[in-house]
Amino acid sequence: MKPTNKHALRIVLASGLIAFSALAVEASEGGGDASKGKAVYEGTCVFCHGKNGKGEIPGTPDFTKATGVLSQADAVLIDHISNGFESENSSMPMPAKGGNEDLSEGDVENVLAYLHKEFAHR
Ligand code: HEC
Repeated sequence: MKPTNKHALRIVLASGLIAFSALAVEASEGGGDASKGKAVYEGTCVFCHGKNGKGEIPGTPDFTKATGVLSQADAVLIDHISNGFESENSSMPMPAKGGNEDLSEGDVENVLAYLHKEFAHR
C-alpha cells in the first residue's frame, strides 16, 4: 500500500470513530429528535391522537395526563408504537406504527421524543 493510501485510510477510520461516538451520545440521551418527530406525528398519528394529544377518536388515550400512558418506560412505548398495542377492555387497538409501515425505527424514536416534549413534559 502506498503511504498516501495509508493516510487516507487512517482519516476514514478516524471519521468513522467520531460518527460512532456521536451516535452513542445521542442514544444515551434517549435517541429521538423531537423536531423530526413532529412531522411523523402530523403525518401519521394526529388523525387518531389529535393535535393536542388528548385523542380524536374513542379509545385513544389522553397523552397529556400526568400518570397516563406516556409515564411508561420508553422501551415499552417504542414496542407499543412499533408493534401495535391493545389494552384490556379496549374499544380499539393501536395499529403497528400507526398503520404506516413506511416508518423506520428512527421515525418511531423521533415521534416518541416529540410525544414527551409536546404532551408529557419530563
Ligand atoms: C388508527 C388510529 C391510530 C393511529 C393512526 C395511531 N394510534 Fe396510537 N393508539 C390508538 C388507540 C386506539 C390506542 C389505545 C389502544 C388500547 O389501549 O387498546 C393508541 C395507543 C397509543 C399509545 C399508548 C400505548 C400504551 O402503551 O398504552 C401510544 C404511545 C400511541 N398510541 C402512539 C401513537 C403514535 C406515535 C402514532 C403515530 C406513529 C399513533 N399512535 C398512531 C390509535 C391510533
